[in-house]
Amino acid sequence: MNFVADIARPAERRVTRLSDLTDSQQEAIRRIPAEKDAVNVPLAATRPNAIFTGRERFDAEQANIFQKHAVPVALAAVLPEPGSVVAIEAYGKPLLVTRTRADNIKVFINACQHKGAKLVEDCAVHKQGRMVCPYHAWTYGLDGKLIGVARSDMFEGVMKDQRGLKELPSVVWGGVIYAQLNGGPLDVSQLHDQIDADFTALGIHGGYVYGRKTFDLAANWKVVLEPFLEGYHVQRLHAASIGALFVDAPSVSDTFGVNIRQVSGRIGYEPAMLDEDADTNVHKLVTHAYTAFPNVVVVTSQYYTSVMILMPYGVDRTIVHYYMVTPGPATTPKAEEVFERSYDLIIKVFAGEDFRAAQISQEGLNAGVPESTVYCGLEENVIRYYEALETLL
Ligand code: FES
Ligand SMILES: [Fe+2]
Repeated sequence: MNFVADIARPAERRVTRLSDLTDSQQEAIRRIPAEKDAVNVPLAATRPNAIFTGRERFDAEQANIFQKHAVPVALAAVLPEPGSVVAIEAYGKPLLVTRTRADNIKVFINACQHKGAKLVEDCAVHKQGRMVCPYHAWTYGLDGKLIGVARSDMFEGVMKDQRGLKELPSVVWGGVIYAQLNGGPLDVSQLHDQIDADFTALGIHGGYVYGRKTFDLAANWKVVLEPFLEGYHVQRLHAASIGALFVDAPSVSDTFGVNIRQVSGRIGYEPAMLDEDADTNVHKLVTHAYTAFPNVVVVTSQYYTSVMILMPYGVDRTIVHYYMVTPGPATTPKAEEVFERSYDLIIKVFAGEDFRAAQISQEGLNAGVPESTVYCGLEENVIRYYEALETLL
């Protein structure tokens, strides 16, 4: 189930039109009411403090979600070319992600089968056909096979074919590489075909990683996730940055198992705008926000898409891998300027505003306040998501 080779890279595409989206995405967009007609319904829902601060809940999530199911480790677009490798740390494990010459994505533990040394120590993408251990120079192919042992005549009985790299079963889903951290058979029961199709239509699969950055946050992964599931904070927390571009409504949400898709009209949205010009950049009119199982966040912007993987490292520690995905590299100085400015802005907004909000919330939660968090009608997706997640615990 590795679809990478089947996806033509949309080199010609610079923006996303309505017709580029899946039927399901188009149908959802057509359900968004005009800004003036949007109705919000109040909601009464709470969650206990312990889901963000308790060891018991953290352990249950680890056992029933992160160690049981395939979980996201990186974007396939990080390795656009066959014959390349990148080291990433995911969920505390040193991993190697390779794209073989045959164009297959593979995930390995980044550890030599001689004495465990890391084969790749930095986090840059390397275009190379093999990996040489820095310690005693054992050499591996990108398919994980041990292909060379220095002074092999000195080993009695070391079988090359028994000391290949430890591979984790993996699959590319909508451009996101999912791996089975426990090394067992791949469990993709929570990955939904609609998400695969939607992400591919958004250009995440086959897109270009313009920038990526890692954030180490002192907050529970769900506290980091919440602002990407609700619009309540947007006009408030982001008042000085992007808040003015958004209104509290209108939006349409759809749930696919433990996956949520929300699409919202931008300020002044009217359904008739969709049909004014078939070539219009649809993300000038609407914004998509996804939470995909269990910890992938996708937010669209006019000229790029943000993808984040929120990896729990502790009850109140989360490492976020942020990727800015564009249809391709900038081909003009003007495009480069737009990408560069966008990257600076989105990092400022996500890191300086959303992640900051998560960290200051966690401080209060760790002090036991509030005893339960409370959610309103503009945050219904948080509750929808928690309800879906809780069925797995
Ligand atoms: S630890 Fe890798 S060759 Fe010795
Ligand atoms: Fe936000």
